[in-house]
Amino acid sequence: MAKNKVKIEVKDLNLWYGDKHALHGLNIELYKNKITALIGPSGCGKSTFLRCLNRMNDLITSVRVEGEVVIDGKNIYDKDVDEVSVRKRIGMVFQQPNPFPKSIYENVAYAPLKHGIVKKGSSCDELVEQSLRSAGIWNEVKDILKEPGTGLSGGQQQRLCIARTIAVKPDVILMDEPTSALDPISTEKIEALMLELKKEYTIITVTHNMQQAARIADMTAFFHLGDLIEYDETEKIFINPAQKKTEDYITGRFG
Ligand SMILES: Nc1ncnc2c1ncn2[C@@H]1O[C@H](COP(=O)(O)OP(=O)(O)OP(=O)(O)O)[C@@H](O)[C@H]1O
Ligand SMILES: [Mg+2]
Repeated sequence: MAKNKVKIEVKDLNLWYGDKHALHGLNIELYKNKITALIGPSGCGKSTFLRCLNRMNDLITSVRVEGEVVIDGKNIYDKDVDEVSVRKRIGMVFQQPNPFPKSIYENVAYAPLKHGIVKKGSSCDELVEQSLRSAGIWNEVKDILKEPGTGLSGGQQQRLCIARTIAVKPDVILMDEPTSALDPISTEKIEALMLELKKEYTIITVTHNMQQAARIADMTAFFHLGDLIEYDETEKIFINPAQKKTEDYITGRFG
């Protein structure tokens, strides 16, 4: 794939939790307007790696990171980079939908108001509507915006969390098993949404569901015990992997 499509370049990334070396010298280029799936057995470092991409690991005191994560030409671990601004640009959606204990409207409006992206009033209303529309949930919630976000179904809550993430206009959306707590119909909606969102965003998603990776990911990265074993176009990974370990994993021989 063309070099100018690289959004995130990871160079020699190592991470330790105390003495535990959890990520071993990772090198990977993640592409703009693509969905990249991170796959691999439990404990191989998928979530740890994902959290490196928006400095969420900084919140864990025992963590030490070495190496670079270059986003749009700038290493986000450089001393002059403010991690709060990184997390605003690189949004994250988690496995368990986690709306704030506030109204649907406030869930989406909270961060844009806090960051000064909009002021209270019509511009905020517009941003809330636009974000809920982009997340494919506007029609379901437009008449109940004042009701609590926590009152929605799990699948609706997850789409609300996606609306909340895109409301601050990030460049990249990180998703850690975004559908593993959801039923098949909600899963299908989130997958369709991800395919829509990749037109505007770069999406990195963790999944244990091989079919999901095959359905929606352009690129797939296979991790094993803190190593990046193989990274390629999804079709190549699933049809003709270069590494025996990848093949064993995707054919269900371990993990
Ligand atoms: N906060 C933490 N403190 C110490 N060790 C941790 C911490 N979080 C993760 N680890 C360890 O780092 C390694 C990678 O964990 P990680 O959660 O990134 O794996 P994963 O691939 O996301 O697994 P899963 O598929 O189960 O979510 C594991 O050995 C795990 O025990
Ligand atoms: Mg994980």
